[in-house]
Amino acid sequence: TERVPVIAGNWKMHRDHLEAIQLVQKLAYHLQEDDYEGQEVVVCPPFVALRSVQTLLQSDKLPIHLGAQNCHSEDEGAFTGEISATMLARLDVRYVVVGHSERRELFGETDEIVNAKVAAVQRHKMRPILCVGEVLDQREAGQAVDVVVSQLQGSLAGIRVADPEELVVAYEPVWAIGTGKTATPQDAQDMCAAIRTELASLYDEQTAAGIRIQYGGSVKPGNVRELMSQPDIDGALVGGASLSSEDFALIVGHRR
Ligand code: G3H
Repeated sequence: TERVPVIAGNWKMHRDHLEAIQLVQKLAYHLQEDDYEGQEVVVCPPFVALRSVQTLLQSDKLPIHLGAQNCHSEDEGAFTGEISATMLARLDVRYVVVGHSERRELFGETDEIVNAKVAAVQRHKMRPILCVGEVLDQREAGQAVDVVVSQLQGSLAGIRVADPEELVVAYEPVWAIGTGKTATPQDAQDMCAAIRTELASLYDEQTAAGIRIQYGGSVKPGNVRELMSQPDIDGALVGGASLSSEDFALIVGHRR
């Protein structure tokens, strides 16, 4: 199965709607036409910048896809301060990051909540980037695979995957996020292979073979090539380095 890699920049709570336009313009300037071939490029700005980035991508016909960093599981209602998948879909958002470790840790998102969000994203024909990953204690205790498998089972309970392109899984070891510590390519590969095995048991071999699995956690221009060359790693979810147009362009352009 040919899997088209997805390289996504998660800007987290950085860049207002004007800075967001500048960042995308600079990124487009640094990218070459070939960089868009055979892979998907995604930027995930904060909610308030989605509209301005959408407008820019449309007017300049840039082949960059729009992603959001979160959504609520309900389509509408009395949920002060929340944003629905319905609203995101209307902004041409293609990917929605769901269950990022910061959401799980700082905002109390459980697998059950994440599961409802995955369903909401799918309902609106967008694609969840479902984040999973262990914390340092769990890795040191040899529980990393068990933790990730249980996150997958909980977050994907009752979720159907008709077309494997509809779901992206991001493996982000929490100890590697924003720390400058990257999982070794072999450790990242081993976990991504374990994720694919679990996806095969949740779905079937063929579906699992088509689902893209990203690695995230201190991805930089200097380590992306080796990570991406692993057989079960089909992309990257990039935090800090996606805020620099030069670095993110080097990451996207790692095949040059
Ligand atoms: O979603 C992105 C990840 O949390 C990785 O962040 O590249 O700054 O380590 P980072």
